[in-house]
Amino acid sequence: MPACCAFLLGLTSCDKDNDDMQEQTLYEKLGGNRMVSDPRNPSQMIEQGRLGLRSVVDSTIFVIAADPNLQPYFAPLLAEVTAGNTTNLAVLSRSLTDFFSVATGSATATYSGMNMRDAHDPARNPRMALKADNKSYDDFIAAVVKGAQQNNVPSELIGEVGALIEALRTTIVQR
Ligand code: HEM
Repeated sequence: MPACCAFLLGLTSCDKDNDDMQEQTLYEKLGGNRMVSDPRNPSQMIEQGRLGLRSVVDSTIFVIAADPNLQPYFAPLLAEVTAGNTTNLAVLSRSLTDFFSVATGSATATYSGMNMRDAHDPARNPRMALKADNKSYDDFIAAVVKGAQQNNVPSELIGEVGALIEALRTTIVQR
């Protein structure tokens, strides 16, 4: 075989090896697009990865609601929920789940909410009661970690979620 062909074949097989060894996305590690029955509505199916993220999001919202350091930022939402109106709570749960699904590599999810700078600027999003500082950002990360632990997410995956969140700090912290 001419040397050039052997070289080309070599390249092809290298490419294949790379494909085989390609790292799973975080979404895949969380269960990916395998369809499972939705425990919230057993007649419906949901992707395992989305279900995992939704569970973490919902637990995190509870942790935030109980954290006196984070409560002031979510004042409009908490006032509604206290009054028995959970409409925007459901909207936020869906929006955060969409965001984290896309951010972790879901091939099917779409996020159609505000961009992260505007969503966390009280002048553009009145539901954000005040600008986040670094301390509140640390508290938010701690709330996500707690929410993930409550859902038995393995610690190495929690570390990956933490790194993903950390990357948004300079966009979201605005004071
Ligand atoms: C990586 C970190 C974060 C992510 C990915 C994130 C993501 C989001 C998303 C997707 C929304 C919905 C936007 C929309 O409705 O279009 C949102 C809203 C909000 N975020 Fe964040 N956020 C983060 C950090 C924080 C922090 C640190 C705070 C406060 C200290 C915060 C407070 C809020 C509040 C108050 C809202 C409005 C909630 C409502 O609709 O009532 N977020 N965030």
